Amino acid sequence: MAELRTRYLGLNLPTPLVAGASPLARDPHCATALEAAGAGALVMESLFEEELLEEVRQADTDLHQEVGRPEANGAPSAARRGHLEDYLDRLRDYKQRLRIPVIASLNGVSASGWLDNARLLAKAGADALELNLYRIPADPCERAEQVEAGYLEVVRALRRDLTLPLAVKIGSHLTAPLHFARRLAQAGADAVVIFNRFYQPDIDLGRRAINLRIQLSQPQESLLRIRWAALMSGRVDLEIGVTGGFHGHAETIKALLAGAQVVQFATVLLERGPEALTEIRDGLAGWMDEHEYPDLTAFRGVMSYLRAADPGGYERANYREALHRFQFPSGLCV
Ligand SMILES: Cc1cc2nc3c(=O)[nH]c(=O)nc-3n(C[C@H](O)[C@H](O)[C@H](O)COP(=O)(O)O)c2cc1C
Repeated sequence: MAELRTRYLGLNLPTPLVAGASPLARDPHCATALEAAGAGALVMESLFEEELLEEVRQADTDLHQEVGRPEANGAPSAARRGHLEDYLDRLRDYKQRLRIPVIASLNGVSASGWLDNARLLAKAGADALELNLYRIPADPCERAEQVEAGYLEVVRALRRDLTLPLAVKIGSHLTAPLHFARRLAQAGADAVVIFNRFYQPDIDLGRRAINLRIQLSQPQESLLRIRWAALMSGRVDLEIGVTGGFHGHAETIKALLAGAQVVQFATVLLERGPEALTEIRDGLAGWMDEHEYPDLTAFRGVMSYLRAADPGGYERANYREALHRFQFPSGLCV
């Protein structure tokens, strides 16, 4: 059978199939099942900047209120055990229970004190860190370069005193994703994960109110990621992880052909459970056997922009032709 082992973030992964950040990673039984099903690594769900800052504020308030009370010198009260402590406990537990690498995740956009927690994640045994830069630039006065500079400052702040390998998960709403990826590498990132899915608020017509409902992904969303993986591969000094719309072995193979190092999964696991990974792993291995690829390096990136026979297909070149070729059903306008 084909060899699926790969390297990512300086770590050894048994497969390039990564269980991405999702509520499944909150459950130890699911974590074990994901490993058994073929996950090469597990990304824990994120610790959010807002939660961590709130906890610091709460701890300050508690401390002020407890000063002078006899129990103040004892262990922290149960009420003070917050997200961070729970997260660290879970991380330590996963490091005991799993053989695959465990990647902790931070989600936020400011380069302030909450990033200090990254050191605690490293101490608790995280093998790497994924930083999710998720933000909607809603201020019309804010310029694109200010937004990007802010993101890069977070990466630099993390890199300054963190030795863990660092992946940065970004959104696709950038004018020049390739250039930004290069700057991420200069700021100290080791990998880029493309792309965050931005959950779109909907308007409730009856209540005239905004609803935010998580919509799970569709496989065609993978095409955006595959295109940008192809454009980035070999042209930015970062490993590439893809996330968004990867539901089966076909999309997974395409991402690897485009040059991705790993493929992340969330929706398919939430919809079908960890066994979906086994199907994807077996589908990938079967395809490699059929095409006589002994390992991933034999075909990774052969369809990247740098190596594809027709790289113009990733640019504007085929766009006009594709529009002209499009046929609508006859009899639509009788
Ligand atoms: C319910 C849910 C929770 C998620 N939580 C996180 C999270 O905590 N941190 C994060 O970086 N991504 C999170 N994601 C995003 C996923 O990791 C993934 O990037 C996204 O869903 C696209 O992949 P998919 O098409 O396989 O779902 C979450 C996704 C879902 C559906």
